[in-house]
Amino acid sequence: MTNEREHTVAAGAEVDWDAEAAAFDDKPDHGLRAPEVRAAWAARLRSWLPERPADVLDLGCGTGSLSLLAAEQGHRVTGVDRSWAMVERARAKLAGRDAVVLHGEAAAPPVGEQRYDVVLVRHVLWMLPDPARVLGHWRTLLRPEGRLLLVEGVWGTLSPVGIPADRLTALLAPVARDVRVERLSDDPLLWGRTVDDERYAVLATV
Ligand SMILES: C[S@@+](CC[C@H](N)C(=O)[O-])C[C@H]1O[C@@H](n2cnc3c(N)ncnc32)[C@H](O)[C@@H]1O
Repeated sequence: MTNEREHTVAAGAEVDWDAEAAAFDDKPDHGLRAPEVRAAWAARLRSWLPERPADVLDLGCGTGSLSLLAAEQGHRVTGVDRSWAMVERARAKLAGRDAVVLHGEAAAPPVGEQRYDVVLVRHVLWMLPDPARVLGHWRTLLRPEGRLLLVEGVWGTLSPVGIPADRLTALLAPVARDVRVERLSDDPLLWGRTVDDERYAVLATV
């Protein structure tokens, strides 16, 4: 019998992200090309990230759209992605910024002893096996008072995939002392359209 967890991981693992890379930014919330969508994400990010320039680790950074917004807001960004095609696009997007993009595994990023003020992960955790263990590892990558910024959701209605906010909140209980969930479903500017599925951000301070 396939349980919910196995189902969601299988759905994410099936995606060929190298093949997806070329058209990835065509979706409004991926490429952030429309000024109003870009502005909506920039405003949210500004409210989630520290006011002072911080070290931000963007795991599963894709083409680097959120990394670029963070860099534009004065933060030092390290992106990590397992798809070389995504890494190449992110490097091009972040050229000239205070940013590096590494090829590697989000669950065990190749950052050595480096520690960060923020671990930022959008639409990636739901695909990783054993998210509880992964969250525990990400916590070790943070400096004291650092924060996990996780943007996730449950997508689709017939065969929904993703991770519900209440499940992620429960997984964070052992690793974070303060967990805040912000609902994102009701802001069409973020997605370039109206959505009725569950989309949210979690800000967790360790
Ligand atoms: C849905 S995209 C999200 C990209 C980016 N975070 C964003 O919000 O625009 C998922 C990304 O995670 C990457 N990815 C998936 N599994 C990964 C893993 N285990 N380690 C590193 N990157 C992974 C994919 O290559 C892809 O770029």
